[in-house]
Amino acid sequence: MLGILVLLVWPHLAHSCPVSCQCHSGDVQCFGLNITAIPKQMPSQTFTLLLNDTNINIINVQTLRNLDLMTRFGLTHSRLHTIHPLAFYATPLLMSVKLSSNNLSTIPVEVFGPLQACLKQIFLHENQLELISAEMLTGLTKLELLDLNSNRISRLDAGVFHNLSSLIFLNLGSNALRELPPAIFHSLYSLRHLLLYNNQLKVLEADIFSHLAELVELKIHNNRIARLAPKVFWSLGNLVILTLSSNQLQGVPEKSFYHMPKLSYLTLYKNPLLSLPVQLMGHTPFIQEFYLQYTNLTTVPGNLFSNMTGLLRLNLHLNFQLRELPAELFKDLPKLEELSLNLNDLRILHPYIFSGLPLLSLLDLNDNNLRTLPDTIFQNLKAVSTIYLNNNDLKTLPGEIFRSNSMLRELFLKDNPWHCDCQIQGIANWLQTNKQVLLDGEHVMCNSTLDQPLRTLWSLSEKDFYVCNPTTVGYFPTQRKSPTEISTTSLRQSTAATTNQPSTPQPTTFSLARSNPTSMAVPPGTTTTSTTTTMTPSTSPAPPSIRIQSPPFYDILAVEQWPEFVHHNHHQGGVFVWTLPSNAAQAGFLMTCHILLVTTGALLIYAAMWGMYRLNKAMRELWVESKDG
Ligand SMILES: *[C@@H]1O[C@H](CO)[C@@H](O)[C@H](O)[C@H]1NC(C)=O
Ligand SMILES: *[C@@H]1O[C@H](CO)[C@@H](O)[C@H](O)[C@H]1NC(C)=O
Ligand SMILES: *[C@@H]1O[C@H](CO)[C@@H](O)[C@H](O)[C@H]1NC(C)=O
Ligand SMILES: *[C@@H]1O[C@H](CO)[C@@H](O)[C@H](O)[C@H]1NC(C)=O
Ligand SMILES: *[C@@H]1O[C@H](CO)[C@@H](O)[C@H](O)[C@H]1NC(C)=O
Ligand SMILES: *[C@@H]1O[C@H](CO)[C@@H](O)[C@H](O)[C@H]1NC(C)=O
Ligand SMILES: *[C@@H]1O[C@H](CO)[C@@H](O)[C@H](O)[C@H]1NC(C)=O
Repeated sequence: MLGILVLLVWPHLAHSCPVSCQCHSGDVQCFGLNITAIPKQMPSQTFTLLLNDTNINIINVQTLRNLDLMTRFGLTHSRLHTIHPLAFYATPLLMSVKLSSNNLSTIPVEVFGPLQACLKQIFLHENQLELISAEMLTGLTKLELLDLNSNRISRLDAGVFHNLSSLIFLNLGSNALRELPPAIFHSLYSLRHLLLYNNQLKVLEADIFSHLAELVELKIHNNRIARLAPKVFWSLGNLVILTLSSNQLQGVPEKSFYHMPKLSYLTLYKNPLLSLPVQLMGHTPFIQEFYLQYTNLTTVPGNLFSNMTGLLRLNLHLNFQLRELPAELFKDLPKLEELSLNLNDLRILHPYIFSGLPLLSLLDLNDNNLRTLPDTIFQNLKAVSTIYLNNNDLKTLPGEIFRSNSMLRELFLKDNPWHCDCQIQGIANWLQTNKQVLLDGEHVMCNSTLDQPLRTLWSLSEKDFYVCNPTTVGYFPTQRKSPTEISTTSLRQSTAATTNQPSTPQPTTFSLARSNPTSMAVPPGTTTTSTTTTMTPSTSPAPPSIRIQSPPFYDILAVEQWPEFVHHNHHQGGVFVWTLPSNAAQAGFLMTCHILLVTTGALLIYAAMWGMYRLNKAMRELWVESKDG
């Protein structure tokens, strides 16, 4: 039936279809650079005429004659620079005019006048327009779409959008707008999409969006906005998409994103944010993905994400100054699956910071400055399958750190200065039995000036730890000895003495340098003592002695420290070890004093002996003299 109809109608249409055009049921499309004017012979019933990629540069008063039934007209990707003011009088039914990607720098103010009753869409993007006059849009009460993207508009009159009460979509993106009149959008009650990105806007005034209750999408990224008025978005109760990235914001007013319960896409990245307010996000359960990167934040408020309970992916990375994360930051994210914290400046993490993330499967901590991790840190990550720890400052890890991560399939540990001493035995043993998990295993190298500097971490086996055998392991500090009994600080300092002097030979396999075991007790933000701090008398008034309760350990230590200035002694069942500071100047000074003292003593003894000899000789002479006499 339909076939017969088409066959009957087809010859008539085909007959009047111009060259370079395709005609089909009132729809005419023409392409080609050899088209320099709108063809004269058009099918009598043309509803849609689309010309693309042509050489047409002018629309005359005659051009659209005979097209009085046309509802859609497009002339795009052409050279159009002039439109006759009366051109559209011939087409009173036009609903859509598309003149994008042309060379228009002005448009006659009254050109759309004849179309007030029906015009719904105006596409003018990618032209050279500098000015949009209020008269041009006057009375277009049916207009739903106005696309002015990619022109050269630097200024808009306050009344330019008056009476566009049906407008749904307004694109002003990629222009040169520096400011907006405060009431410019006030009559756009139906507006749902407002695009202002890629301009040079500096400020968003308090009431600028206050009448846009229907707005769904607001894109303001890539401007120069340095200041947001407080509550500027509060009237946007239906907003779903809001982009504010790539601006100049150093701060955001408190509660800026309150009263937007439908918000599901928000961007704030690439702003030089210095801080965020304690109350920022209102209830926003539909945000599934959030990016916050390239900011100048050094920390964030602990409750930043507490109202984003639907988050699946959180990218808090590439904040090169971000040093601290509050302990409770991730506590209300029951659905979070991916967390990227890479390329920040994190040094320590709170022992339970990840404890509220039951569904987390990917955790990226690459490229930070983490020195150590607490053994509880991953304990609640029951679903984690991938952990990245590359390129940090890790010297060791607690042996039990991954014990509850039964789903772990991919672990990355390279580019850390792994210190292969007794402390690493636990994690080395774990790696031996879980080799398939460590995907970059052959690049995870020991870093210490040992006799085998190029060992991989997972190649260390029981026999490499013979000196740390079970009876002696227990004697290592931090293993539930009371802090008064063992001063780890002194141990650190004494070992620093061995590691800090490059000239000192390191004859044994195990150095006793120890990662800072007390650092996790330090609240975030406090600077922790580096493991290589040298002892200075002022900071360490305590006597430099360590009470260690193990003869085997004492043997190792004595051998290890040789020929450092270490003296040890048994006393009351324990061993006392005295060390001298590693500071070369101090040690040198003490050594010089020591040599001076010994030399002086020897000289005195020699002088005394010589005196005795002289006295004896004199006595003998006297005796001989008296005998002779
Ligand atoms: C334009 O060029 C095409 C070939 O590329 C040709 O078929 C067509 O007839 C020409 N149209 C006009 C209007 O000259
Ligand atoms: C119109 O022409 C441009 C430039 O040749 C081309 O990129 C675009 O796809 C064309 N559009 C249509 C609808 O044919
Ligand atoms: C656009 O118009 C200007 C004059 O208004 C002209 O100099 C330029 O060559 C035109 N560009 C194109 C691509 O036609
Ligand atoms: C536009 O709206 C204003 C009130 O906002 C009204 O005074 C004016 O007459 C309207 N103009 C047109 C052309 O409808
Ligand atoms: C979370 O949202 C609720 C409701 O909008 C608000 O009362 C509360 O203060 C918000 N919490 C934070 C930390 O901003
Ligand atoms: C933010 O940090 C960058 C470099 O990281 C710096 O150039 C810029 O001045 C900082 N901005 C502010 C506002 O501190
Ligand atoms: C050890 O680490 C330091 C920096 O932390 C690096 O310069 C050095 O090359 C590393 N040595 C080995 C043997 O990996």
